Amino acid sequence: MQPGKRDKRGYFITFEGADGCGKTTQIQLIKEYLDKKNIENILTREPGGSDLGVHLRKILLHYENPVSNIAETFLYLADRAQHIEYKIKPALESGKIVLCDRHTDSTIAYQGYGREQNIDEIKHLNSIATAGVIPDLTIVFDIDTEIAQKRLQGEKDRLEAEGIEFHKKLRHGYLEIAKNDPKRVKVIDANKSIERVFSDTIKVIEEILNV
Ligand code: TMP
Repeated sequence: MQPGKRDKRGYFITFEGADGCGKTTQIQLIKEYLDKKNIENILTREPGGSDLGVHLRKILLHYENPVSNIAETFLYLADRAQHIEYKIKPALESGKIVLCDRHTDSTIAYQGYGREQNIDEIKHLNSIATAGVIPDLTIVFDIDTEIAQKRLQGEKDRLEAEGIEFHKKLRHGYLEIAKNDPKRVKVIDANKSIERVFSDTIKVIEEILNV
């Protein structure tokens, strides 16, 4: 779909960024903004956006024994396949805006750039998991890795607990993804205040959705 045009199929927006980038707060604000304008939308997330996904999320984030890189990738893809089939596709088909907290680009950034798995293979497997559904717009919240790490408080999950070098690699990964697909992927400077990040994000969404 061309930016600025929204057809009956709905509109698929994904939000991405390293752990601690403030993404979840921003998505909540965006949902409230759309609700106030009476624009039909759903807010969902990966992993964990479907019933099956809720179980997979627990394993992915909290399984205590070693998980092979390949097994990890397949578990994220299984979560995505279920999510696309039972939640995202039906919502798009009924004309809703789908706001999704993480999607395909997380697998490329975390498992590809972070875990150094083959990116072309991930893309191929991902295209099977998504049955060809591609986000219309992806917002990447880009933040200095040290600042993001400081924001993560309390007990960390499996991925958050990876060191700073891992998180630097995936930040670089997100910027590469944006560089390679500038039409779909927009980078927002998430080092700024919550209000400023929100207004920068809404500007992008308003321009594209024409709302
Ligand atoms: P979050 O919901 O708090 O962002 O946690 C999800 C974690 O899972 C986060 O650390 C990123 C990671 N993740 C991947 O490694 N690959 C993926 O494909 C997805 C969707 C998430």
